Amino acid sequence: FYDDKGSKLFQQIMELEEYYPTRCEAEILSKCGAEMAEFASGDKFNLIELGCGDGAKTVMLLDSLIKKNIEFNFVPLDISQAAVEFLLGNLEKKYGEIPFKVQGLVAEYFQGLGWLTDNASERNMVLFLGSNIGNFNKPTALRFLRHLWHSLNDGDLILIGFDLKKDLDILYDAYNDKKGITKEFNFNVLDRINSLLGGNFKRENFQHQGLYNIQTGAMESYLISQQKHSVHIEEVGKTFNFEPWEAIHMEYSYKYLESDIQSLSSSTGFEILKNFTDEQGYFIDSLWKVKK
Ligand code: AVI
Repeated sequence: FYDDKGSKLFQQIMELEEYYPTRCEAEILSKCGAEMAEFASGDKFNLIELGCGDGAKTVMLLDSLIKKNIEFNFVPLDISQAAVEFLLGNLEKKYGEIPFKVQGLVAEYFQGLGWLTDNASERNMVLFLGSNIGNFNKPTALRFLRHLWHSLNDGDLILIGFDLKKDLDILYDAYNDKKGITKEFNFNVLDRINSLLGGNFKRENFQHQGLYNIQTGAMESYLISQQKHSVHIEEVGKTFNFEPWEAIHMEYSYKYLESDIQSLSSSTGFEILKNFTDEQGYFIDSLWKVKK
C-alpha cells in the first residue's frame, strides 16, 4: 500500500471528515502528552516511531517532552522514504533548529526492530500509533508484540494506538468515504501490480467496498469484480480468472475492546500503565511497560 503515492493517499485519508481515528488520536496526544511524558522521564531514551507517516500527531508528544526538558533521540521509521523526508522537513519547519537528536530510518517494522536491538544500551519508548496494529490479524499482532518484547529491555515503554469497536455506521463511513480516497488507496495497489509486475488489472472492472465483519471485529476492504474477466500478471506467469462478484481482500482494520487490549498486553509480556482515550471514547492510546 505504502509506496510514495499510497503514502500521499493515506495522508489524504487522515484529513477526511469521516476518518475519525486521526482526529481522536491527535486529541489524546495533545491532551495527555504531558502525562505520557511523565512516565518517560528519567535517563535519556530513544523515542522510536514505527510507521511515522507525516508525524503531525507525534509532534504533540515531542512538544510535551521538550517542555519538560526530557532528553531523547527521536527515531522516526517508515517504509516510505517520502514519508520520512516529509516528516524531517516538517520538524525543520516547525522548530528551525531541532532541539533533539533525530535519526530517520527507511525500513520495514521488523528491520526497524533490529535497529532497536543494536541500540539496546539506552532506554526505549516505541510509538506504534494510528491504529497500525489493527492492520494485523490476531496471530500476527501477537507475533509482532512478542518480537517487540524480545527487542526491548525490562522497563522500556510502548505506546500503541487502538481503534475501538463502535457504531457500525461510523465505521462504515470511515472506510467508504464520499470523496473516494479510500477507493483510490486500494486501486493504487492494482496500479502498482500493473507497473511493477506487468499486470493488466483494469480499475473499471472493480468496485471498492469496506465491510464490517461481526465475527472477527474488523473492517475489511474489498475490490469486487463487476464481471467475469481475467487478469494476467507477467512476472508471476499466472492468469487469475474472476467470476462476477468475486472479491480481492485488500486489508483488515481490526477494532478492539478495552478487554482485548488487556489480554493482548498480558499475553505478550507487557503491563498496561495507562489507557488514554478521547472524549468520544472512539480510540485508545495504551501505554505499556516491558516486564522481563
Ligand atoms: C494505517 N491504518 C491504520 C489505516 C486503517 O484505518 O486501517 C489504513 C486505512 N485503510 C483505509 N483507510 C485507512
